[in-house]
Amino acid sequence: MARRVAIIGTGWVGSSVAISTLQLGVADELLLYDARTEVAEGEAMDLAQGSSFYPGATVRTASIEEMIDADAVVIAAGRNGKPGESRLALLRDNAILARELGARLSAARGVIVVVTNPVDVLTRVVLEASGLPPARVIGTGTMLDTARLREALGRALDLDPRSVHAQVVGEHGDSEVVLWSGVQIGGVPLAQWPGWSADRESSLANEVRTAAYEIIKRKGATNHAIGLVTATLLRTVLRGERRVLTVSRWHEGASGVRDVALSMPTIVGSGGAELVLEPAMVPQERERLEHSAQVLRDAYASVRD
Ligand code: 2OP
Repeated sequence: MARRVAIIGTGWVGSSVAISTLQLGVADELLLYDARTEVAEGEAMDLAQGSSFYPGATVRTASIEEMIDADAVVIAAGRNGKPGESRLALLRDNAILARELGARLSAARGVIVVVTNPVDVLTRVVLEASGLPPARVIGTGTMLDTARLREALGRALDLDPRSVHAQVVGEHGDSEVVLWSGVQIGGVPLAQWPGWSADRESSLANEVRTAAYEIIKRKGATNHAIGLVTATLLRTVLRGERRVLTVSRWHEGASGVRDVALSMPTIVGSGGAELVLEPAMVPQERERLEHSAQVLRDAYASVRD
């Protein structure tokens, strides 16, 4: 059966998700919607004209109602951050939109992937408004921060980032938590890596936490890395890969986390964010994770209707 992916919002992020998804060969059919109808039409034309250069897929605009039947619907609509603005500051504006979209997608057949910031709170808003099972409403969460951490560590250690096993959990934002105690390379704990000193941890964590601010200050938005992250998440679901990714979803008690949507390592397959794992953590990491969860609960409480 044709694999159908739909994207709501074709701004910086949505259009990068679209091209990355096409190039990964994830979808047979890509549907685009934007409140600015002509922008969505222009993106569809532009992407379709490149079809000689990606695995066969059709691209067209569609209404949100037509997207109900898609294997995956990506929500990338909303306002993006201004220079220096935290992701949580976007909340009020984007929560209204997320609530409306969640309600319109309540009969969605596949998964909903939330990308719009603040992604963790909006994942919860979309989950509640849609009434879908928690595994089927997935935020890209700290999958991007984990990628940034691996890239930064790879640069620091002169290694391919794919060989660095490291994870960022919690909020995709200022309270995120690097699980330093679990970082390893080929089974060697980072703490035992020749030449490594724990003094380097805080500046690397800070680099990862502020990465988006640094990019937004220079080019006004981030789009390429999140586009690749989202396309990889879509591939993981559509191919039922059961890959472990740090994505955001509603928590029901794993690692003692509940009543919040945030990122933890999670088995992702055809059912969505299927199983939240419980990684080993030292007490300080647990405390930071609980703090991050509380930041997100408080942010949600500020927009609850
Ligand atoms: C990013 O981290 C802004 O959340 C976006 O690139």
